[in-house]
Amino acid sequence: MFLSLWLMKEDFLNKKLDERKAQNAYRELKIPEGMIDFCSNDYLGLSKILHPEFPLAVKHGSTGSRLLAGNYPLINETEEQIAAFHAAPAALIFNSGYDANIGLLSSVPQRGDTILYDYLSHASIRDGIRLSFAEAFSFRHNDLAELEEKLKKATGNKFVVTESVFSMDGDLAPLAEMMVLCEKYGAHLIVDEAHATGVIGKKGEGLVQDLNLHSRCFARIHTFGKALGCHGAVVLGTVALRNYLINFARAFIYTTALPESSVMAIRKSYEIFPHMHAEREQLQRLVTEFHHSPIKFNKQQSNTPIQAVIVPGNEAVKNLAGQLQAKQFDIRPILYPTVPTNSERLRIVLHSFNTIEQVRSVTGSLQ
Ligand SMILES: Cc1ncc(COP(=O)(O)O)c(C=O)c1O
Repeated sequence: MFLSLWLMKEDFLNKKLDERKAQNAYRELKIPEGMIDFCSNDYLGLSKILHPEFPLAVKHGSTGSRLLAGNYPLINETEEQIAAFHAAPAALIFNSGYDANIGLLSSVPQRGDTILYDYLSHASIRDGIRLSFAEAFSFRHNDLAELEEKLKKATGNKFVVTESVFSMDGDLAPLAEMMVLCEKYGAHLIVDEAHATGVIGKKGEGLVQDLNLHSRCFARIHTFGKALGCHGAVVLGTVALRNYLINFARAFIYTTALPESSVMAIRKSYEIFPHMHAEREQLQRLVTEFHHSPIKFNKQQSNTPIQAVIVPGNEAVKNLAGQLQAKQFDIRPILYPTVPTNSERLRIVLHSFNTIEQVRSVTGSLQ
């Protein structure tokens, strides 16, 4: 059932891949084995010199793009491990979440297609969309009625893009309802799980899986630079999507791959974070504590570790942040134009290593 659904949804990807094959220009990832290196960018051999020095005995440099010298068994195995964890058919690692969004959104939607994206989407989503030849329109934050109106008018292949946990507000996208709309209008749902990874779901799988929407979601982006404590990102989707990105996503093709040292860290992180139940429970306790503490400013409704306290005006929010920093709380102001004018805010991020007393002390300072 799902298979036939996906085959239908993927026709446009496979058509382009077949064209590539017909032109003899189809790209595949290969592992360079035992050859004399006339390929890598490792001009001084530094990656090999550094190699034995590294405590994990892995390389600091990958020496090229994944399509040239920069592909290696550990990165392929890690993609398989991550795809299995997230119950996805395939995974492709990018050097960062920024690169993943740019690579995916600039290459998949084509001229004549339509992208609809949440107005509060992260800059990397917006930049990726800007690089695409598709038509793009935002819809008001989490506004399903406006999304539906725009879906009715959309042409070509339709893509709906959102974050699952919004980076500046900490609130959640109504993914189940969005999925229903996407299916009604034949649109592909793309979800950036940057701030959900490691945090949302029993094992930190993210919101899409937590809601059991993963087999219906066109693509998911998980980043490693946040709860996972390393660097890089992955795009999850079908095998055809992975092959398509390898062939068309310039942010994947024209850059040096992550080195083994980074991928080793990512792998290790995926072994550890699913078992960090106590930490996720502590986080939730802190979120509840923050949520129920009265303060004199407006708080965004958020059930996640990102808590936004609205303090309109760049100067006012900077002053308040300065007062909190003087009390040794590292709390940063988020200013216009990062957020719309009059919604400047303190972005308070809760961590499992924070204590209830610390949270009470912060909220006490905001009364
Ligand atoms: C929602 C969202 N997507 C993508 C990114 C980019 O991820 P990375 O830092 O790995 O480039 C961020 C980081 O700020 C983010 O908040």
